[in-house]
Amino acid sequence: MTDHFSGRRTPRLGLGTLPASEVISGKIQDVAADAIVVNLFAGVAAPTGATGAVDTAMGGTISRLIASGDVTGKLGEVTVLYPSGGVVAPRVIVAGLGSRTSFGLEAVRRASAAAAAKAREVGASTLASLVHGAGGGGLVAGEAAQATLEGALLASYRFGGWRAQDQAPERALTQVALVELDGGHLPQVREGAAAAAAIARGVALARDLVNLPPVHATPEYLADAAAAMAERTGLRVTIGDRAWAEERGMGAFLAVAKGSALEPRFIELAHNEARTDLPLVVLVGKGVTFDSGGLSLKTRDGMVPMKSDMSGAAAVIGAMQTVAELDLNVRVLGLAPCVENMPDGAAYRPSDVLVAGNGLSVEVISTDAEGRLALADALVHAKGYAPAAVIDIATLTGASATALGEGVAASLFFTDPTLRARIETASEATGERVWPMPLFPEYRAAIESKVADLKNSGGAKGGIGTSAAFLQAFTDYPWAHVDMAGMGLIENPKGRGYLTPGATGYGVRLFVEFLRDWA
Ligand code: BES
Ligand code: MN
Ligand code: ZN
Repeated sequence: MTDHFSGRRTPRLGLGTLPASEVISGKIQDVAADAIVVNLFAGVAAPTGATGAVDTAMGGTISRLIASGDVTGKLGEVTVLYPSGGVVAPRVIVAGLGSRTSFGLEAVRRASAAAAAKAREVGASTLASLVHGAGGGGLVAGEAAQATLEGALLASYRFGGWRAQDQAPERALTQVALVELDGGHLPQVREGAAAAAAIARGVALARDLVNLPPVHATPEYLADAAAAMAERTGLRVTIGDRAWAEERGMGAFLAVAKGSALEPRFIELAHNEARTDLPLVVLVGKGVTFDSGGLSLKTRDGMVPMKSDMSGAAAVIGAMQTVAELDLNVRVLGLAPCVENMPDGAAYRPSDVLVAGNGLSVEVISTDAEGRLALADALVHAKGYAPAAVIDIATLTGASATALGEGVAASLFFTDPTLRARIETASEATGERVWPMPLFPEYRAAIESKVADLKNSGGAKGGIGTSAAFLQAFTDYPWAHVDMAGMGLIENPKGRGYLTPGATGYGVRLFVEFLRDWA
């Protein structure tokens, strides 16, 4: 298959481009790399530890620049120095860590991302970095290593695209090393680095799937990508087609597919399926590959970001890849109902009544409230596996982005307080923000229908809550729902340099952290 733009199946520069990574034991001033990265807290007059050793080797240059006010250590600050001796690398990058009081893993990711971006900009292709925060910063070495490498790798993600001007080789990092002198920390640093590399690959996969144009990232393409990933990583994969969904009575999911020329696909990925001694966690991701709104057509502006309406599915696929690569000691099932929402003569209509896999009937008010229909059948399907917990993630309502801000946070709904607490813990560790929302009974009342068990829209007011109440009706197990509308695509990463313009891969790190903690 070739795409409609260029005759190429894949983008010009290929997918998932990330630097390779390694851990080096020793002194950073001895490492041969195009650039080394040291660090500095704000307010420090004379650097100590590994940065102090580099400063000494360079004859006190860093201390002098602090004294002159050129280097302050504020978060995100990067200063490139060109030593004339004492250090093997031709460039030394001083990365600001900010103040000690607001320091944490997020600061490490940001500082490391800023340093990596700067290194690439000045033409370095190999980078060696200290583990930020493990020495004087008081962080656990393994977590600090993970955050340092994650920041650098995720900042280096590039989506190829099809632009002719990109034919010239772009400046890119090809190798990122973490350098650790403390032999006692080395095993932890290696473990943190391995986790970071697998996580970054999962995020890159999710970003690729979201960045691909919808003519390319069709339900079939997502299914093929998931199957290829499963083959590589040893996950069990099942791809359900239309007939498969019909057999299971997935009338809500299938209704969404009716107006599209593309065939729907239902993706199932399983890790440790035979380990029935372990409680099962199910992840469910909305996979609407393009949301035109269907007959309840979106506005021209509203439609523009809708290639990202499969960001939930991408997060599940990316997280499942990482879970498999890290071989986490958890039993996980990833589900992604993938479908395109388009209007044509066969499309489902407002006023249609659909029946989901559990027999619940749904009156269609808006064909633009399609995500909850696809998810409803996936949530019913999850029940068949007797899950201990189910978390769904979806670009479900514009109202979530309106309430919390674009790129700021996702809404979190839950029926189980323990699950909520675990998701919030993962959110704090990863910086992938969620904010708790209520499931008031009024939301359920707003989707009462006169002709069916439920209607698929409760109107504009309380739109996040009514959509969550709709999903809840299809669950009877510990459940949480992450509405990530507005989190899938960003134009400007602002201070968070580990995000790159375009797809964020939101949800992969949240899920992986949740599952590592669960294990
Ligand atoms: N995919 C959209 C939600 C969305 C909007 C995601 C903006 C990301 C950015 C979803 O399918 C949708 O259209 N929701 C409607 C629900 C309404 C019809 C009840 C919405 O938010 O307007
Ligand atoms: Mn919609
Ligand atoms: Zn949608």
